[in-house]
Amino acid sequence: MKTLSATAQASPNIAFIKYWGNRDSALRLPANNSISMNLDGLFTRTTVSFQPSLGVDELIINDREVTGKGLERVSGILDLVRQTAGIDLRAEVVSENNFPTGAGIASSAAAFAALALAATKAAGLQWPESAISRLARLGSGSASRSIPSGFVEWKMGTGDEDCYAVSIAPPDHWALADCVAIVATGHKSTGSTEGHALAPTSPLQAARVADAARRLDICRRAILERDFETFAGIIELDSDMMHAVMMTSQPQLFYWKPATLAVMETVRSWRKDGLQVAYTIDAGPNVHVICPQTEMAQVTAFLREVPGVMDILQAGVGGPARLG
Ligand code: PMV
Repeated sequence: MKTLSATAQASPNIAFIKYWGNRDSALRLPANNSISMNLDGLFTRTTVSFQPSLGVDELIINDREVTGKGLERVSGILDLVRQTAGIDLRAEVVSENNFPTGAGIASSAAAFAALALAATKAAGLQWPESAISRLARLGSGSASRSIPSGFVEWKMGTGDEDCYAVSIAPPDHWALADCVAIVATGHKSTGSTEGHALAPTSPLQAARVADAARRLDICRRAILERDFETFAGIIELDSDMMHAVMMTSQPQLFYWKPATLAVMETVRSWRKDGLQVAYTIDAGPNVHVICPQTEMAQVTAFLREVPGVMDILQAGVGGPARLG
């Protein structure tokens, strides 16, 4: 019998126009489109093998066996693949990240993207990119954006079938870098699945969503035209709006530390002084400082001087999820 096994790797991504809140939580249909860039050099590598000898699915992440909720989420994706492929075997899933967990890089995006690609391939399914992006979305919304290449837009669609991500520009379109200023390494207290569910409790969420099409247009155009100044303004606004929703949710989600604010203020003052640099912050205290790759060394050196910055991780623009 032919082996039902495949390996895939995928990069995390950083959102410029954020995904925060679902219109359907079970299907992870977002309240608005989002735009991101894949992070080059950082990846999750996952092998899925369906095996007759297994009685249950097994999940090993960074050499540690994972059970409970983490395993259930993975089994949910495997079940969909098994149903479509007509396979009745349990699988072993072995996954490794080459970036530290808890370093402000959402590992779930890369993880579910790599899982979706490896599992479909292992099961012998020949799916188009859009279908793999949809499958990854069911594991973690932002994972849908780690399937296509480079700069990516995840379309909210009208339902499950047209809700997937597409590339809007390849990695070599614009040589941007993400310098992640790490100000805390602890695990976040509220995961994003619970966070999305709280978004509608903020009176600001409706306004954030109502204005999303406008911000998306500005951001998409700024990327296509490589217009850094416009890009910087819109990504900072979008990040601030998401955090305003988080801070005004019930219960409140407050991710910033004093050093988070110190980096934000410093980035703004550097930009006033002529440096091309902008910040964006996900569901955590670490600050993603975006700049042209030509400014990366200088930005990194400057960031090291900001009190409270413990470390800096660097990444360029990454390609698509891929096999092998
Ligand atoms: O994909 P999730 O459920 O981990 O949500 C990601 C949420 C943010 O990182 C805060 C924003 C985004 O668009 O990536």
